Amino acid sequence: MSSIVILISGRGSNMEAIVRAAQKDAWPAQIAAVISNRPDAAGLDFARSHGIQTAVLDHRTFQDRASFDAQLVELIDSFNPDLVVLAGFMRILTGDFVRHYAGKLLNIHPSLLPLFPGLHTHEQALAAGVSEHGATVHFVTEALDHGPMVIQAKVPVLPGDTADTLAKRVLKQEHVIYPRAVRWFIDNRLSIRDNQVIVSPAEAQILISTDQ
Ligand code: GRF
Repeated sequence: MSSIVILISGRGSNMEAIVRAAQKDAWPAQIAAVISNRPDAAGLDFARSHGIQTAVLDHRTFQDRASFDAQLVELIDSFNPDLVVLAGFMRILTGDFVRHYAGKLLNIHPSLLPLFPGLHTHEQALAAGVSEHGATVHFVTEALDHGPMVIQAKVPVLPGDTADTLAKRVLKQEHVIYPRAVRWFIDNRLSIRDNQVIVSPAEAQILISTDQ
């Protein structure tokens, strides 16, 4: 049985999608803990009410990024995870942290990487005038919002879209692709060759949604 630790900072809807999929499909995995860097993260309530252990490590009580990350590694490792899932965890991670979890650290980013790394991706997409947008699940490497891509979901950008309407359309697909990527990982279906993620047996790594 694999063990998964999920890191959140806020709403936690991606974490929720993963927890629900794990329960519904009886994954051979347990969500060992949900950890937040913010004590008021709404997602913590959902995790607690689903019998999942939670922990808070408030970054504001640390002097610097390195000491926070070192403590976070200790906390995460106390749960012996096979996989660490960043689900809206709004922290830039140190190289030490990322190297420690090399090959077992996943993130979701709300854009079709390598387009629009960083924050405000929906605003960036609208400003660029692209006709499609989406989300990417990727392995985390030291480059911010980069790393081998596991799966992407594409959605159309529609006339009249605002950052909010677009974010909502993208988020719906995030809840489809993130549980799928995590399931592939725990089923040992992912490997990385030349910076590219291979899924075996092969399955579509791009989802095209026409949902409005
Ligand atoms: C999502 O859009 C995710 O892609 C980004 O932050 C947001 C987190 O939302 N990294 P939630 O906390 O999972 O609801």
